[in-house]
Amino acid sequence: MKEKSLYSLTALFDTPDEIIHAAERASKTGYTRFDINTPYPVHGMDRAMRLKPSRLGIFALVFGLLGAFSAVGFMTWVTLVDYPLVIGGKPFWSWPAFVPVAFEVTVLLASVLSVVTMIVLYFRFPNNAHPLHDTPYMKNVSSDKFGISIQADDPIFDEHEVREFLRNVGGKSVAPVYLDLSDLNHGQKLFDPKFLGVLAVTAIVVSAVTYIIFNKVLYMEPFTWMSAQEKLKAQNPSGLFADGIGMRPPVPGTVARGFLPYALKGKPDDAGKYLVNPLLPTKDVLERGKSRYLTFCSPCHGNFGRGDSRLQGQFPNPPTLISDKIRNWPDGSIFHLITEGQNIMPSYASQVSRDDRWAIVHYLRVLERAQNPKESDLK
Ligand code: HEC
Repeated sequence: MKEKSLYSLTALFDTPDEIIHAAERASKTGYTRFDINTPYPVHGMDRAMRLKPSRLGIFALVFGLLGAFSAVGFMTWVTLVDYPLVIGGKPFWSWPAFVPVAFEVTVLLASVLSVVTMIVLYFRFPNNAHPLHDTPYMKNVSSDKFGISIQADDPIFDEHEVREFLRNVGGKSVAPVYLDLSDLNHGQKLFDPKFLGVLAVTAIVVSAVTYIIFNKVLYMEPFTWMSAQEKLKAQNPSGLFADGIGMRPPVPGTVARGFLPYALKGKPDDAGKYLVNPLLPTKDVLERGKSRYLTFCSPCHGNFGRGDSRLQGQFPNPPTLISDKIRNWPDGSIFHLITEGQNIMPSYASQVSRDDRWAIVHYLRVLERAQNPKESDLK
């Protein structure tokens, strides 16, 4: 029979203090290929063993960067190339929105891939065999003893010296562990048909039970958790209508509550002829007009209507409103112009309510009068 080769010499200790001491001595003596097994984590052990910091952090960094770059890259591709969509008038490549996603993908890849790396690279998955498995030593250190195992592949390993060393540091039951060559095939146990069969049956049974409990049992009448509702969700089809479309457009001619369509669309002359300012130029109305004018009109027309825009060339300067032309315009024409816009001046109907538009007209009259006082005003 072929001789078994030595894997390591092991020794057991009773207390964490002893094992720390033994680990310190082992690393001081110069052993590098040794391991400590304890039933629970013992603090300070990595220092005692003089372990170098794990290189797993580098993998985590690389995977994290990979996650960040792929997330940002994907979102860049989607928003610029594949599906550019204007959302609230923001730029297509709107990076603040990418931050949470990039962060999540970074964390996801860094953590999941680090675990996979650890299992595959460090633990040599799918090989799950180890010479220490199934030894009396392992039974002890996984219950109440603390153990050290100095491996035979250590550069300064000498069986006699190591036995001596282990006894010197107070180790009990010093014992050799042999490399069982059939162990090398243990990894294949994972692909044993019997094991795979049990795994498959377990997976199917657990999935089926979970499915039935969460999707059927929990939702049996009358406890449907309101999940069955006769309602239409946005964008969903509906069998109720002949065209199958769930979201119905308003009936033609529908008028929104509190909103009257502008009757004189495209008829500035009629507006000037027939529209009358419904508001009286009271103090409140004039103040409201002033506030609306300063908010919506003054950026282009200037605070006093003189056409001295604050926009510094970003928009063509409008003509002055303190002109004979505007002064002789009926109120209705000005109201119509604010409502419909004129040439490059856009409509302000959606920003400024109907009453506010009339209040602005009153305020415009104030501006005109103030800058072109009549003889009687000056007395
Ligand atoms: C974005 C800049 C801008 C804003 C804001 C703006 N206007 Fe104008 N407005 C213009 C321009 C430019 C013209 C000249 C349009 C043209 O070429 O006919 C103009 C023209 C006018 C005229 C006609 C002047 C004329 O001589 O033909 C009136 C009246 C007027 N605006 C009133 C207003 C009122 C009232 C507001 C606020 C509700 C307002 N504008 C807001 C840019 C603006």
